Amino acid sequence: MNKTKIGVIGAGKMGGAIIKGLIDSTVYSAQQITVSGGKSERTAQLAKVLGFQLVHSAAEVVAASQVILIAVVPKLVPTILKEISPLLSEDQIVVSVAGNPPLATFREILGKDKKIVRALPNTPVAVLAGMTSICFEAPVQEAELAEVFQLFQAIGKTEVISEDLMNTASALAGSSPAFVDVFIEAMADAAVFKGMPRDAAYRLASQAVMGSAKLAYASNQNPAILKDEVCVPGGTTIAGIRSLEKNGMRSAVIEAIIATVENH
Ligand SMILES: NC(=O)c1ccc[n+]([C@@H]2O[C@H](COP(=O)([O-])OP(=O)(O)OC[C@H]3O[C@@H](n4cnc5c(N)ncnc54)[C@H](OP(=O)(O)O)[C@@H]3O)[C@@H](O)[C@H]2O)c1
Repeated sequence: MNKTKIGVIGAGKMGGAIIKGLIDSTVYSAQQITVSGGKSERTAQLAKVLGFQLVHSAAEVVAASQVILIAVVPKLVPTILKEISPLLSEDQIVVSVAGNPPLATFREILGKDKKIVRALPNTPVAVLAGMTSICFEAPVQEAELAEVFQLFQAIGKTEVISEDLMNTASALAGSSPAFVDVFIEAMADAAVFKGMPRDAAYRLASQAVMGSAKLAYASNQNPAILKDEVCVPGGTTIAGIRSLEKNGMRSAVIEAIIATVENH
């Protein structure tokens, strides 16, 4: 088990999913994780379920942790940074999972000597199948961030990207779980139309999507090759592909991702 002390400021949908994933991964124990939350009872309730250390200020999180995750809504990030700035040492790493602000704001408030990373996870981190895009700048070196990679690799895959692609990564991996949910729901609706019970339809559709995604990731090749393998000449699957193309599925997906990026 990793011994690094992890701090989390903000345990909502994303912070909570990360904490659950870290504990379920067994790479981290609940005792290693210190969390501060907002004004509601939500974090206290989560602490009862997950067993992490609940504290009442960001300052206490910083005092207890080597890696500090900031998982509050973007507009709160500068306030949190101003609060923790005088308490941070150069050995600690600040990881913002907020969609914004950019690294420049962190440097401005925390100073150039601090280790700062932006990471964009997605909600499947809760089931150890997350995708986290990570960016950082000099003077931070990739080798200094072993703890950060270990943390996000305990709950899924990681990809280092340049900061100018973070909004694209956010749409592609952060928002797309919602798009895939629509796809699963629509596939299941069709099966229900044909008489399949709804709960079975959801199980079949989501397992098929999960398996196809796993195969595409593992094969590391153009997904078109995998598609072609399923399409027997003159068969049923190619008839379905024809219908998808006729109804603009490819274009709908491209436009959805671009609209998401452009709304950042
Ligand atoms: N959801 C996603 O799929 C996703 C993906 C990638 C990145 N993100 C990023 O993750 C961040 C959080 O998003 P979210 O979806 O998790 O939002 P959320 O569910 O609203 O969670 C935000 C949490 O911050 C807490 N909070 C408020 N003030 C605080 C303070 N002063 N100190 C500590 N905690 C405080 C809130 O507590 P109360 O509940 O008590 O008010 C709430 O639990 C955002 O910046 C977002 O861009 C989200």
